[in-house]
Amino acid sequence: MDDLDKLKADVLAQVAGAADLAALEAVRIDVLGRNGRVTQLLKGLGQMDGEARKTAGQALNVLKNEIGAALDARKAVLEESAIDSRLAAEKIDISLPARPSRTGKIHPISQTIDEVISIFGEMGFTVAEGPDIEEDWFNFTALNIPPEHPARQNHDTFYLDANSPKDGAPLLLRTHTSPVQIRTMQNTKPPLRIIVPGRTFRCDHDATHSPMFHQVEGLVIDEATHMGHLKGCLIDFCRAFFGVDDLPVRFRPSYFPFTEPSAEVDIGCSFADGTLKIGAGDRWLEILGSGMVNPKVLENCGIDSTKYQGFAFGMGIERISMLKYGIPDLRTFYESDVRWLNHYGFAALDVPSLIAKAR
Ligand code: DAH
Repeated sequence: MDDLDKLKADVLAQVAGAADLAALEAVRIDVLGRNGRVTQLLKGLGQMDGEARKTAGQALNVLKNEIGAALDARKAVLEESAIDSRLAAEKIDISLPARPSRTGKIHPISQTIDEVISIFGEMGFTVAEGPDIEEDWFNFTALNIPPEHPARQNHDTFYLDANSPKDGAPLLLRTHTSPVQIRTMQNTKPPLRIIVPGRTFRCDHDATHSPMFHQVEGLVIDEATHMGHLKGCLIDFCRAFFGVDDLPVRFRPSYFPFTEPSAEVDIGCSFADGTLKIGAGDRWLEILGSGMVNPKVLENCGIDSTKYQGFAFGMGIERISMLKYGIPDLRTFYESDVRWLNHYGFAALDVPSLIAKAR
């Protein structure tokens, strides 16, 4: 019995000292395995007789159970700590901020278009769109620019190797967003109030002209729309867009075949010490073209020009974007230089609106 107590103390100390599951398994084999210390003793019972065998058998079984329970308990502890250390080793720190270089930026063209839409949206305009590949009739003739009209010379563009099924004239890349005026007036009954942002193309390439650029067109048609509406609408737009409440806005007589009368719109600015400042000053910057829609254009779209009239305007997105955000070179818009975009781009969640501007 003394020997058993010693054996028990010895084994329990080994169990307690097993540092991991492998060490514990080695202890189990050493004690309860086929040739284990307790197993040997159990085998020895066969040579004992009678009473002695019974007492020894009971004692050995108690010992075996106690050791088994100790092994199980230690195993549970070791398994738990194995899981704990795995969890600690494999932990993912979800609090790590995203790498800043991965943050995308909104291109100034997209931002400017969004701002223009937002401002006119609050005046009740909706957005209309048209195709980049256009028919001669929509781009020119319906806008009162017939073949041989000198205005076509300023609109040299890229012609496709395909002709319009309607009149056989070659298809072209639209030179302005104005053809969407025609498409809209043909398909929608007045009253109309639309703006048309989009890509436009011309056979031009120098520091201030790109063969592809962007415009936004506006069109308002109703029964009593007059030049006062044109002026009020565009003055409000210029002031909201440039964020200058008392921005001087000047309407200068001009000529466009699709409007009569026509006006170019200038905003006031100063240019002191080589720095352009938008607002009151002694200089003017032209930013858009406008006018009352020519009755011929209305009639070309099947609209009764004795009943309806309205105004239209068109402006270059790049130009107003360069002026507002101080971007000096037109060509950089299309270079896809990430450093440029990081500098001139906008935060993705910075939704443009008049309210945001007021803050
Ligand atoms: N379509 C003209 C251009 O690209 C711009 C323009 C001027 C549009 C006057 C208009 C307008 O709607 O009324 O040069």
